[in-house]
Amino acid sequence: MSKALVIYASRTNQTKGIAEIIAEGMRFEGVEATLVNVNDFEKQKINPEEFDAVVLGAPTYHGDMIQPMKTLLFALEKSNLEGRVGGSFGAYGWSGEAPGRIYDTMKHIFKMDMVNGPLMLKSASLGGGVKMGQDYGRDIAKKLQK
Ligand SMILES: Cc1cc2nc3c(=O)[nH]c(=O)nc-3n(C[C@H](O)[C@H](O)[C@H](O)COP(=O)(O)O)c2cc1C
Repeated sequence: MSKALVIYASRTNQTKGIAEIIAEGMRFEGVEATLVNVNDFEKQKINPEEFDAVVLGAPTYHGDMIQPMKTLLFALEKSNLEGRVGGSFGAYGWSGEAPGRIYDTMKHIFKMDMVNGPLMLKSASLGGGVKMGQDYGRDIAKKLQK
């Protein structure tokens, strides 16, 4: 069974909700998904190299990702994630810079095999968010099967 690690940052739990739905979509396709809050990542001593896919999410505040996700990206630079399947996501209000910046870092710095585009949702519960989140999870799972 393939394993996926989903790490999210979230201030008011919108991005957390999207993370849960992406994980659900992956589980529908038989992927074992582990969900972690970025603030617990260090404590849990998780090795991202033990996962076939790594998916990262953060909301946008003042045109940027929140600090814990920036810190995580610098920490993950030390792992070897090259060639692993990746995706990024985040809740946003109007501009939504964070998911794209995370995506680009995973693609260009970590050299991961990224799914098509970051997933940006205003909320997991609005405007077809549940279906889009599940589909994003399924797309990651399908990429793992290839
Ligand atoms: C002070 C503040 C600043 C924000 N700045 C942005 C912004 O620059 N661009 C944007 O798209 N959304 C912005 N938002 C909206 C949040 O991204 C949105 O509420 C999101 O759902 C929060 O996700 P979270 O619950 O995972 O923290 C801002 C919200 C607040 C409260």
